[in-house]
Amino acid sequence: MTEARAVAVVVLAAGEGTRMKSALPKVLHPLLGRSMLGHVLAACEPLAARLLVVVGHGREQVTATLPEHVQPVVQAEQRGTGHAVRLALEAAADLDGTVLVVPGDAPLLTSRTLGELVDTHVAAGAVATVLTSVAPDPDGYGRVIRAADGSVARVVEHRDATAAERAVHEINTSVYAFQAGLLREALAKLGADNAQGEEYLPDVIGGFVAAGHPVAAVTAEAGETAGVNDRAQLAAAGRALRDRVLTAWMRAGVTVVDPATVWVDVGVRLDPDVTLLPNVQLHGTTQVGTGAVVGPDCTLTDTVVGSGARVVRAHCDRAEIGPEASVGPYCYLRPGARLGRRAKAGTYVEIKAADVGDGAKVPHLSYIGDAAIGEQTNIGAATVFVNYDGVAKHRTVIGSHARTGADNMFVAPVSVGDGAYTAAGSVITADVPAGALGVGRARQSNIEGWVERHRSGTPAAEAAARARTAAGGGPADPTDGDMGAGA
Ligand code: UD1
Ligand code: CA
Repeated sequence: MTEARAVAVVVLAAGEGTRMKSALPKVLHPLLGRSMLGHVLAACEPLAARLLVVVGHGREQVTATLPEHVQPVVQAEQRGTGHAVRLALEAAADLDGTVLVVPGDAPLLTSRTLGELVDTHVAAGAVATVLTSVAPDPDGYGRVIRAADGSVARVVEHRDATAAERAVHEINTSVYAFQAGLLREALAKLGADNAQGEEYLPDVIGGFVAAGHPVAAVTAEAGETAGVNDRAQLAAAGRALRDRVLTAWMRAGVTVVDPATVWVDVGVRLDPDVTLLPNVQLHGTTQVGTGAVVGPDCTLTDTVVGSGARVVRAHCDRAEIGPEASVGPYCYLRPGARLGRRAKAGTYVEIKAADVGDGAKVPHLSYIGDAAIGEQTNIGAATVFVNYDGVAKHRTVIGSHARTGADNMFVAPVSVGDGAYTAAGSVITADVPAGALGVGRARQSNIEGWVERHRSGTPAAEAAARARTAAGGGPADPTDGDMGAGA
């Protein structure tokens, strides 16, 4: 960045955003893991020697989201964009040189375009430089009216424009570079004689031209300058941002099979040769390592996926998935779930605050909470780690190379040693030493002939009778033997 480009930036974010019809201040509505205002600040940051944000509606909420180096300026009453900038310049009385004004509701702006605006402004020696764009549908925007020689004459608001002016498609994007001293003077003289009774910032443009000051313009792509005033525009901006983010990842070596159904937040990091299948949402600070395949149908938030891992139809929040691990289909990894290298969390498995060691497997229908499972251990199908006694949570620790039976309950706190087995259907309430077989279930007994005696006439009893005859058995025993009648 050259010296000339280190400028003061004023971001306008005090408006109510009535058209959003929301309790949340407009500029705090999120897009791809960042507020609208956050996107604008990120675009300004590389150019800004100093950053001021004019706050008004919901100012406590908005101010709370601002980084420390950003100076909030309170505009208690929203008397227009000109009034807002006037207050910012009053709050920064020493401010001189170039000031960049940016609306808080234009989340698609890029640093590159803002930089071009400042460069043109400085090179032209202009007092004001307007960023314009040619909008397919200019309704609602201020129109840029040019003189016969093509120079900017003034900006007129949609509501104040004549039919001929409304036919103009070149719009004011509300992004400008100004010479701070002359802007200060112009704002002091600004009236509010217009359809909205507000001090319009763009009115200073016509004023500068009338006074013979040089005014310049830079035209940006409409896709970058769209303002968000309602939720339909918010969704459109979201789609545009999504496409921009995915295009950058695809150019960086990520395969996105169906970009129309994949959403990747701006804070996500992806290595080359990651593949994202349809219907994948990656949120927050999620990271995916090279060669990993995620999807279809996954939502990952603040989750780390190791290289070569396979994640299918999973919902993961603050989880760590090791290299070459396998997750899903239909798996829920909750905060603190950590799978080691080549570990598996399979179908209908929920894991919370638990380490699953390298090569260990939890393949089917299980809940694992507050636990450590050693390497190469296999957890039987339909296992529940009983971690909650109604008051406190307790830990289960299972060693390495263990084989736990299907349909076990581990009633925590409890441990199973290295290489131990547990029998299917066990309720394990006491520690199982290394190498032992833990059995925690009643011994089975069979009551012969029970069905024919107690369910006579049913298909089951008829099948039982046929089986008895085929086996060469005698007539059915009329008693329940040792078990007693009614067992
Ligand atoms: C504004 C411009 C219009 C331009 C359009 C581009 C004016 C008068 N009009 O219209 O020429 O085409 O942006 O999107 O400037 N704000 C304040 N304080 C206020 C009023 C507004 O901070 O008193 C902030 C808003 O929060 C918003 C920005 O300024 O971030 C623009 O205000 P908004 O009401 O959205 O202006 P538009 O009608 O869109
Ligand atoms: Ca607007």
